[in-house]
Amino acid sequence: MCGIVGYIGDRSAISVLLDGLQHLEYRGYDSAGVAVIQDDQVITHRSVGKLANLIQKIDRRELHGTVGIGHTRWATHGRPTEVNAHPHQEGRVVLVHNGIIENYLDLRRKLEKLGHSFTSETDTEILCHLVAEQLKKTKQMQPAIQKALALVEGSYAIVVMDAEDPDRLYFARQGSPLVLGLGEKENILASDVPAILAYTRKMVFLEDGDRGVISAKKFEIFDAKGKPVKRKVAQIDWDPVMAEKGGYKHFMLKEIFEQPKVIGDTLAGRISAKHGVVLPELAELFGSKKFDVDHIQFVACGTSWHAAGVARYWIESLCGIPVSVDLASEFRYRNPVIGKKTLCVAISQSGETADTLAAAQLAKRRGAKLIAVCNVQGSSVTRLAHATLYTRAGPEIGVASTKAFTTQLTVLWLLTLWLSRKLKKIKTAALEQEVKALKRLPGLVQTSLESHNEVRALAKQFMNASPVLFIGRGTHYPVVLEGALKLKEIAYIHAEGFAAGELKHGPIALVDQDVPVIALLPQGDLLEKMISNIQEVAARGASVLMIGEKNCFPKGMGTAHIPMPKASSYLTPILYVVPLQLFAYDIADQMGTDIDQPRNLAKSVTVE
Ligand code: G6P
Repeated sequence: MCGIVGYIGDRSAISVLLDGLQHLEYRGYDSAGVAVIQDDQVITHRSVGKLANLIQKIDRRELHGTVGIGHTRWATHGRPTEVNAHPHQEGRVVLVHNGIIENYLDLRRKLEKLGHSFTSETDTEILCHLVAEQLKKTKQMQPAIQKALALVEGSYAIVVMDAEDPDRLYFARQGSPLVLGLGEKENILASDVPAILAYTRKMVFLEDGDRGVISAKKFEIFDAKGKPVKRKVAQIDWDPVMAEKGGYKHFMLKEIFEQPKVIGDTLAGRISAKHGVVLPELAELFGSKKFDVDHIQFVACGTSWHAAGVARYWIESLCGIPVSVDLASEFRYRNPVIGKKTLCVAISQSGETADTLAAAQLAKRRGAKLIAVCNVQGSSVTRLAHATLYTRAGPEIGVASTKAFTTQLTVLWLLTLWLSRKLKKIKTAALEQEVKALKRLPGLVQTSLESHNEVRALAKQFMNASPVLFIGRGTHYPVVLEGALKLKEIAYIHAEGFAAGELKHGPIALVDQDVPVIALLPQGDLLEKMISNIQEVAARGASVLMIGEKNCFPKGMGTAHIPMPKASSYLTPILYVVPLQLFAYDIADQMGTDIDQPRNLAKSVTVE
């Protein structure tokens, strides 16, 4: 949601800004803009729609200024029009903003009384005027921003350019992400790491309340009261190439095919024949202390919530601890029973999802221990948590999450095994067995990817179907929810996932010969039950696509079959989601939708 870039240095700012905004496109946006100071003038370009529209408007040869700010806007207050696009300017103050100013109407009224008039419908323009108003008194930009922000309620990350001073950029963050990249004779501010990677890997993850100023060679950070603060400089290990398409047609396809590799990375150093599962990240939290947890509470949104759904089955069956799984947006507004013996696990690829952060904060306030499962180093949830288990998926650019999901599952399975060991619920031999199975996991995911040709052929057949139903049981119930979500997100096809046993309580009324059903039937205790459920829908004329091990397919049933490799029953959710990801991808590709940036969606939902 909204992407910000600010550049100051010795290069042409416009190239860095546009390149940075391109790397933030995944966040979702519907208009874009840039402003550069050149020859004492602010040159602003704004445009509705894709970044390509903005790029077309700009003659880079004419723009050589070395300081500038850029923005991709995901409309909240005011429609996606050129007038509402950022940067906004009032006098000296040129500003881009990500977030929501909650008291903007109140502020607007007060400013109008002081003679200010507004051209856009945005809350951001209010911020410009607010700073400009303070400038009348203080004359200096930094204190003016500081004073203006003291009047603001809501969330923001802002970068401010002073039209009268091309040697500085100002910034502030409260609730929305902002990263500072420290280069040689150049500094960059951006909403996320991929926009900075091409220039430097030395970064500061700004914290809530941080405000500051950068020049080409220096940076200063202050707290909300204006006191200087020190922040750790992190060295990011992501490679800039990781954020490129690498010959694939879409980021999503590249990310699906990266899964064997990133699952291998996520496992690296965390399993060993001698020690079982090693999670040093949890040492401090549970180290020598008695393991005093009687309830595990997951909070997450979207795909991450589905990962939590699988983990619930794993943990309850192996560790015997009750597990609750909540959508963060619901959890934060109910009155959950959380106490000191609760272990809250917040799962978030980005680490910046507003609802997940609020839910995690609530659990922590009520005394829970908080673990984050996250993909982005230094992100907000990792700073909030007592401990973080990182997924090592590398940058995930496609809005529809794929490799983040399977690496989350990998981490959650490691956590399950670790907990079961800690609680002495698993025998050494059984743990050894599971560790052995985990070693084979990347290879098995590779085999699942081999289903691509079959899936692609089937996708043609299912392209015009709507709705599409997905059914599964046990750990595969959340997996079918994920399969249906993928299809909705990128192919805009109405799809629903159901616990197969629940079909007869309503959803089966939807089934006829035009409604395809995709069924997951892994080997195990629930196989016979699944076969009965498939019989129920087949008897009503549905064409059934079955995904499972070859010997599990019931004879004479199903219109199509996708064979899966043999695996430990705990690991099958990680394998069976792969053909579902490919299925959604191939249908969307044949339909020609905008796969990496589907309509109305944002990768990182940093506002409520
Ligand atoms: C957005 C994305 C989803 C993602 C969800 C949670 O809605 O479009 O793909 O699953 O946010 O994101 P998180 O970064 O917290 O995992």
